[in-house]
Amino acid sequence: MEPGIISLAGGNPDLTALPLNELGQAASRLISAQGAEVLQYGAGSGILPLREELAQLMSTAGVASGPEDILITAGSQLGIELVTAMLCDPGDVILAEAPTYVGAISTFMGLEVAVEHVMCDEDGLIPAELERRITELRAAGRIVKALYTIPNFNNPSGITLSAERRPIIAQICRDAGITVIEDDPYGLVRFEGEHIPAIRSFDDSVIYLGSMSKIFSPGIRIGWLTAPAAVRERLQLLSESAVIHASMLSQHLALAYLRDFDWRATLSKTIDRYRERADALLRALPAALPAGSTWTGPSGGFFVWATLPDGVSADELFDLAVEEGVVFIPGSGFFADGSGARNLRFSFSLEAPDRIREGLVRLGRATARLSSR
Ligand SMILES: Cc1ncc(COP(=O)(O)O)c(C=O)c1O
Repeated sequence: MEPGIISLAGGNPDLTALPLNELGQAASRLISAQGAEVLQYGAGSGILPLREELAQLMSTAGVASGPEDILITAGSQLGIELVTAMLCDPGDVILAEAPTYVGAISTFMGLEVAVEHVMCDEDGLIPAELERRITELRAAGRIVKALYTIPNFNNPSGITLSAERRPIIAQICRDAGITVIEDDPYGLVRFEGEHIPAIRSFDDSVIYLGSMSKIFSPGIRIGWLTAPAAVRERLQLLSESAVIHASMLSQHLALAYLRDFDWRATLSKTIDRYRERADALLRALPAALPAGSTWTGPSGGFFVWATLPDGVSADELFDLAVEEGVVFIPGSGFFADGSGARNLRFSFSLEAPDRIREGLVRLGRATARLSSR
């Protein structure tokens, strides 16, 4: 990308608060003191002490679990792939929020699984809409296998499923015989309000996907999943056949980070930055987008989702924005059904507040050019 372009596009975490020297020493110690173990093959389930740490971490999301419930994955993206491959045959349907994570859509499409969206409001998935979609799709002869949901600070919408709706969504899916895939990489990246219990805390059959990417590092490629024992065993077989296991060195580094570092203090510093940046973005948006636009106001995560007024195209605005030196992601990639032409996703995770403000001044110029056409 050209220097000078301000990117509100990518969803990269800010890593500047990480204690790199200490992490370097920890990595070096791991290799010099435990090299024969951390550079060797390991167990398909992942190393036990990391599973123990993660089981404890799950209690923040209200999920009681032990290390035996957890499978370490090579990133939650792989978790999505494994769960989909286990549950679905080509032609089956997975329900997902409208809009949803583009990486999940790609996985579903790669496995020839159809994505059908469920409408959301500011409290997330609408239970009555979920029921309606299940009934409608089944009446049309479609086989609906799962609901894929990002309940906390959805990527791309930033919306959180309300606490009240979580047990209702779990119940609807249980009654319909549909597996809930709860993808929660952003749950701990909350800058306002209290943590909300995971959907899995209401129903043990939910498959929960966690990730170290947004609370530590995406480069180490460590995620995990929590699932009922029989399901977890099948997923472990699939994981073993795909990657054998997640990198031993990465697992040990993740373990050292969770066990020996004050990672919650580091995350809290990073979250302070995200809060400031979200605030800078939200304050500047009214002057930058066409009159009549609306947008979400997330209390965590990385993203704000905007909707332009009728007749205004996000792609056209994008082309002008690039000329002005700022980028975001046009919305259509976050839908499997061709919608999203009036939507855009802004990420506030990486740019400093001044750069965000400057980016939105540039976007304002793009908006002015679009409306004078
Ligand atoms: C909703 C969602 N799920 C999964 C992932 C992938 O996470 P990981 O790095 O653990 O593979 C991302 C990454 O941005 C994401 O936004």
